[in-house]
Amino acid sequence: MMEKIRRTKVKELLGMESGCDVVAKGWVRTKRGNKNVAFIALNDGSTINNIQIVVDKTQFEDSVLAKITTGACIGVEGKLVESVGGGQAVEIQANAIEIYGECDPMRYPLQKKDTSFEFLRTVAHLRARTNTFGAIYRVRNQMAFAIHEYFHSKGFVYMHTPLITASDCEGAGQMFQVTTLDLNNVPKKKDKVDFSKDFFGKQTSLTVSGQLEGELGATALGEIYTFGPTFRAENSNTPRHLAEFWMVEPEMAFYDINDNMDLAEDFIKFLVKYALDNCTEDIRFLNDRYDNELIGRLEGVLKTDFVRLPYTEGVKILMESGEKFEYPVSWGVDLQSEHERYLVEKHFKRPVILTDYPKDIKAFYMKQNEDGKTVRAMDVLFPKIGEIIGGSEREASYEKLDARIDELGMSRKGLEWYLDTRRFGSAPHSGFGLGFERLLLFVTGMTNIRDVIPFPRTPKNAEY
Ligand code: 4AD
Ligand code: MG
Repeated sequence: MMEKIRRTKVKELLGMESGCDVVAKGWVRTKRGNKNVAFIALNDGSTINNIQIVVDKTQFEDSVLAKITTGACIGVEGKLVESVGGGQAVEIQANAIEIYGECDPMRYPLQKKDTSFEFLRTVAHLRARTNTFGAIYRVRNQMAFAIHEYFHSKGFVYMHTPLITASDCEGAGQMFQVTTLDLNNVPKKKDKVDFSKDFFGKQTSLTVSGQLEGELGATALGEIYTFGPTFRAENSNTPRHLAEFWMVEPEMAFYDINDNMDLAEDFIKFLVKYALDNCTEDIRFLNDRYDNELIGRLEGVLKTDFVRLPYTEGVKILMESGEKFEYPVSWGVDLQSEHERYLVEKHFKRPVILTDYPKDIKAFYMKQNEDGKTVRAMDVLFPKIGEIIGGSEREASYEKLDARIDELGMSRKGLEWYLDTRRFGSAPHSGFGLGFERLLLFVTGMTNIRDVIPFPRTPKNAEY
């Protein structure tokens, strides 16, 4: 029956003039009505909104009508007419209905009354069919596209850096090993694992950052960015950490830390504006349903200049605040999210870029300041989240970098290729990493990072 008319997506149908014959296909959100007529809310994922299907029950077999339950997949052919009820401009007067997939109401998990995020995480394979997760995943898609649009329009080269690597960029040792060795019978040499027998002939892991390879790109192509999955085996079960997350890492030759901060601020503002302009209905839904300050917060960020403040001054503000923190603050400590949020939400009431951190709490590659104690780091701190971006100007001097590697007792083996960027035509350069899911927390107003990625990987959880 439906072969003749091409399917139109719900998003498009809702903006069309009435009068024509159409075919809609999707999943039943609800069915209600009376003895004579049924109203079906049909959604196909193209928009948060449903199209209403009006069914004259006398024209359909009871056996067909009985199969139209929440979650069932159906196709409908009918006339697009002006809607008599409020709420929508047009609806479809059904002439024919095809059932593609039935959905047993007794067993369908989303039929349950429990709509908590905790419950939906246990059925993450189906949660995209809810209004909330449909909205979040559409926003995620738009943001990914916006990232490419931003850098592409600025002439940055999108560079693919490897996911399997032999180096630990952040030096934190939080890496997932990649191996084909038989774990029940590991080859050994002098009591140590013999990685020469492993697939790559050396010890390898999943990347914690594409930065080091990104620097190779920047010192040849000028301005590059990477955007891909990143892996961290940190055992932190917090609402802001994932074991597998996506990171955007621009890396630019001839940028100092100020250029780097300008880019970071402009980039975030572009993304937030893009979300407001292109995800209007989804963000409006999330605002009205969960957090009616969301849109205000997004618009607020566009209007304000981010504070730029050295770490030392930030710590002074925290120490003089009189606030009781769970983790006490003093110069030299790594700031916790409670400290970051105090600065952003209570003290300055706007995003803060903290710079010039103590070298001992930052990675080896950061440019060393004259004071011998701090490095030219920059972390962008956001309301409700804390750190959303981490970056720095890079140490361009071979001698200084070499000395730092020694000081930290790092092995130079496996890093020679990286040191070549400083040996041959070393260039001043900078870059940063934006946690994609942390950005999405801000843009969607969600409070748990597990809810802004379709299939979250966290300690003891790798379903699907
Ligand atoms: O601050 P990080 O560790 O910086 C780097 O990896 C640098 N190599 C980036 C660079 O300069 N190119 O991580 C960058 C950002 C953090 O600010 C945070 O937003 C996010 O990545 N992030 C995480 N997001 C989710 N789950 C985790 N476990 C994360 N760890 C970091
Ligand atoms: Mg960081």
